[in-house]
Amino acid sequence: MCGIVGYIGEADVKEILLNGLEKLEYRGYDSAGIAVLNKEGVVVFKEKGRIADLRDVVDEEVDAKLGIGHTRWATHGVPNQLNAHPHQSTTKRFTLVHNGVIENYHLMKKAYLSNVEMASDTDTEVIVQLIEKFSQDGLSTVDALRKTLHLIHGSYALALLDKEDKNTIYVAKNKSPLLVGIGDGFNVVASDAMAMLQVTEQYVELHDQEIVIVQKDSVEIQKLDGTKVKRASYKAELDMSDIEKGTYPHYMLKEMDEQPAVIRKIIQAYQNEQGELTIDQAILDAFHDADRLYIIAAGTSYHGGLIGKEYFEKIAGIPVEVHISSEFGYNMPLLSEKPLFMFLTQSGETADSRQVLVKIKEKGYPTITMTNVPGSTLSREADHTLLLHAGPEIAVASTKAYVAQVAVLMVSASVYAQSQGKTLDFDVVKELGIAANAVQAIVDSKEEMEQIATEFLATTRNAFFIGRNVDFYVSLEGALKLKEISYIQAEGFAGGELKHGTIALIEDGTPIFALATQQAVSLNIRGNVKEVVARGANPCIIAMEGHEEEGDRFVLPKVHELFAPLVAVIPLQLISYYAALHRDCDVDKPRNLAKSVTVE
Ligand code: F6R
Repeated sequence: MCGIVGYIGEADVKEILLNGLEKLEYRGYDSAGIAVLNKEGVVVFKEKGRIADLRDVVDEEVDAKLGIGHTRWATHGVPNQLNAHPHQSTTKRFTLVHNGVIENYHLMKKAYLSNVEMASDTDTEVIVQLIEKFSQDGLSTVDALRKTLHLIHGSYALALLDKEDKNTIYVAKNKSPLLVGIGDGFNVVASDAMAMLQVTEQYVELHDQEIVIVQKDSVEIQKLDGTKVKRASYKAELDMSDIEKGTYPHYMLKEMDEQPAVIRKIIQAYQNEQGELTIDQAILDAFHDADRLYIIAAGTSYHGGLIGKEYFEKIAGIPVEVHISSEFGYNMPLLSEKPLFMFLTQSGETADSRQVLVKIKEKGYPTITMTNVPGSTLSREADHTLLLHAGPEIAVASTKAYVAQVAVLMVSASVYAQSQGKTLDFDVVKELGIAANAVQAIVDSKEEMEQIATEFLATTRNAFFIGRNVDFYVSLEGALKLKEISYIQAEGFAGGELKHGTIALIEDGTPIFALATQQAVSLNIRGNVKEVVARGANPCIIAMEGHEEEGDRFVLPKVHELFAPLVAVIPLQLISYYAALHRDCDVDKPRNLAKSVTVE
């Protein structure tokens, strides 16, 4: 989390930085700031809150062609103006923006900066004060930066201005994402290509422990030991229309509407010329060599992983374990003899998942990243990548990436099954097409979704989501969607589990969303609904066409039962959206959250 930008060239830098930060706001929105350098020196503007708040304090008159900017998701130090980036060294010679966490900042403070008065509570300020200290000891700026980077431990993507050098932005990266964008007579720095697509489509990837000296007409990449690195640029495969809201009031609504198209795009992306689904032979070989698949993920992606377990076990016959990444790395279970690791991550940057990938690579086990972001850290660092093809997901609450994960998990499980000589009793392409149509029908039923949100969630403090089998996993996702954007306390449960404790929370009118898409457990889930209704709950049953019953609140268009998670999640997303909207919540940027969680 946190996003950084930088620009050096001939244009007015303020607008470029502010526009760039707006595109990075999904990475954090506790505070924001920019620093620009011109002949008078460095001018810093920073403010608590959003980029819109920052715009209000930026002086239009200040003219500069060089600057850096930051949007913050607070880790060390409360979200206020003082802790907002950029941070400056005591003499104000150096100015820095930073995304990441410096784990040993206390030690650094004690060892090198005991007589420096800190202006903020952040770990970041330690970096800029160390650079100043080493520069005062006689080192050049790049050497002072290098020495600092050798001493600090943790993650960083940083951009540094030196008041004495009006031609350079100094950049460094370790574990946090960072790109350099190449222009004609200018160059830029950004956490993500989306931020600088306004000025360039050409980017150079940076690797961990690299320093970059960015000038107007040159970009010099060095390793920490000073060795120069040559790396070609690539064209960002993004379109401005992918990252704009267009006529939609919220990115979340746009992204939910895109879901039928995402499923169709996945079919195309994974079809060969004969129209058969296929995945890279190297990935298939990795599946064949494995005796167990370990799916590692966080949040919504973890919920996608639970559906993946179902697919890989039922369709392809390989045992699967699904683990929460923040737990797995520090409490690793006994592994099988030939494990294969699959990292599910929309952003490809989640630090909790990445720390597992690093540990697994050290052990020498094979790895696949399933991600929406080509070139992301987890994609680069894993042996193989399966892409989600969902297009940029900007709303903090994940919707289309979840649907894409479920679809790509189905594609890969079924291709692997067929490569083992197994015959499937359904046609994946056809069933995905049917699911895409069903999703379309549901996103077209927005009025009904809004009515359900009003009827069940207008005034409630809490809500429960229940299901059995795959419906249980979708219930977990439904509850997460509702709580993260509407702040209604919501929990997902296996239908049979409520009576083992949680049923104590049911009061008159407590909303219960129950999913009934699976024939084999249809009677059981309906039994569970009766148990809570008997205690006063207000049930909203969402059932699959074919086994609906009188009184069900919404009937999902019929799809093959294995494909039901693609469809059953859609009403839950839409209901959450309308519940949040009616409570005046900031749907795209819920409080306390950020999209790309790059701290552990
Ligand atoms: C919830 C949500 C998060 C993410 C989680 C993992 O709507 O978006 O729970 O799913 O932070 O992120 P990725 O998938 O980028 O690793």
